[in-house]
Amino acid sequence: MLNEKARIAVLVSGGGTNLQALLDAETAGDLKSGEIVLVVATKHDAFALERAKSAQKKAVVVQTVAKKSVDFENELTAILNKENIELIVLAGFLCILSEAFVKKYPKKIINVHPALIPSFCGKGFYGLNVHQAALDAGVKVTGATVHFVNEVPDGGEIILQKAVSVQEGDTAERLQERVMKQAEWVLLPKAVEMVAASLRSKKKRSNDVCKL
Ligand code: GRF
Repeated sequence: MLNEKARIAVLVSGGGTNLQALLDAETAGDLKSGEIVLVVATKHDAFALERAKSAQKKAVVVQTVAKKSVDFENELTAILNKENIELIVLAGFLCILSEAFVKKYPKKIINVHPALIPSFCGKGFYGLNVHQAALDAGVKVTGATVHFVNEVPDGGEIILQKAVSVQEGDTAERLQERVMKQAEWVLLPKAVEMVAASLRSKKKRSNDVCKL
């Protein structure tokens, strides 16, 4: 049926607070065009798996450790195909996907980055060290960005951004918490709904054309 919601997979590696923001948005009815049908964690001890379990979401672990990246990506692709995934969300996912992989999903992979791209992004900028770099640079404003994933780390087209003030005496931990609460957890559900809605209308248009 064409009014079906887009099938979404969320890829995680850690605490899963961004996954939780998506699950909460779904529960609140704010994800009208997509449904989270799969969570893929890169580690068995990722707390994000507990969040998926509490939300009765299908969750699998595809480990990256002691595995060639091509083998990881082949395993991941097989699962995404089996579940007919239409949109992939990287939420605290600490792995750089290859050019070959991302090119299979043009404008169908989105990522949340804890800074205002093009600042403090690219290879090596993840987690706390993004916020430490912002503090070291003395910026007064930072924030978060949701963007499409392409072959350049944090280089894809920007979808949404939200600014967050840096406050006197901020540590990297305090700044990370403020950016997550005020920006990441707000932006990601909005961006996922926007992209899912656009995917669904494209699918509907192509079906209407076929009917002509
Ligand atoms: C967050 O800072 C997020 O921006 C980054 O990874 C951190 C942890 O995310 N990508 P989560 O709590 O695992 O969603």
